Amino acid sequence: MELTGKTAIVTGGASGIGLATAKAFLEKGAKVVIADFNEEGGKQAEQQLKQGDAEVVFVKVDVASEESVEQLVAATVERYGRVDIMVNNAGVGVLGVTHELTYEDYHKVISINQDGVFFGAKHAIKNMLENGDGGVIINTSSILGTVGEGGAFAYNATKGAVNLMTKSLALQYAEHNIRVNAVAPGYVESGMVSKEALGDFYDALVAKHPVGRLGQPDEIAHAIVFLVENEFVTGSTLMVDGGYTA
Ligand code: NAI
Repeated sequence: MELTGKTAIVTGGASGIGLATAKAFLEKGAKVVIADFNEEGGKQAEQQLKQGDAEVVFVKVDVASEESVEQLVAATVERYGRVDIMVNNAGVGVLGVTHELTYEDYHKVISINQDGVFFGAKHAIKNMLENGDGGVIINTSSILGTVGEGGAFAYNATKGAVNLMTKSLALQYAEHNIRVNAVAPGYVESGMVSKEALGDFYDALVAKHPVGRLGQPDEIAHAIVFLVENEFVTGSTLMVDGGYTA
């Protein structure tokens, strides 16, 4: 699929993988809506990416709220006429042993990582069906959708769910030319995943990646662009993990 002139929404677009994806889409000539809960970061990202004739705008969203996601899609349609690509990327994790995990923390992870994918896919697909010529949904999963991690119980649950939600959606909407794929990154350098933030744990994480380093956000963005462009790929979860799950 050619990205020039297409409209893409990227949730969690204010930082990390989402920001790199927004940038990669703009470089391919797409119009991009940076959708994020973080208003300050979102506005900064919009300013950072608005160069030349780049069509990019920040819209505040809480992906855990269906009403908010519905408004995001409506705002996108109002500004750019339609949604062609929806990247459900916003995500959070809560670390800790499960016997001490509160329902509140558990539910927070479920509502952002899992409900957020449902709401994003549902409302983007509604618009794609109205347009009648298809589209692409990309969900950001994780290696932790495939392998377990002690202390990441809720996160594991959501990313495993995202992998199968991706397959279910791909089967349902293939006949409407709507493709649905997921990308499953290994650990990627971002605000929370850095040598400064993690200390010795950072080195332990590096050791789990056979390539001997963590990933960079633009390496995940590159894979997302591939999943959008290649029209024979649907229902896939693409591991981009430096060999972590090999
Ligand atoms: P990040 O923390 O840099 O970006 C996440 C963004 O989501 C932030 O801008 C945050 O404001 C936004 N967000 C959080 N809650 C939200 C909500 N309720 N509504 C809208 N936006 C919200 O993190 P990163 O690393 O770029 O993560 C992006 C995705 O990649 C997540 O789904 C994460 O689970 C996944 N991932 C990240 C890995 C890593 O090592 N960094 C590894 C595997 C997957």
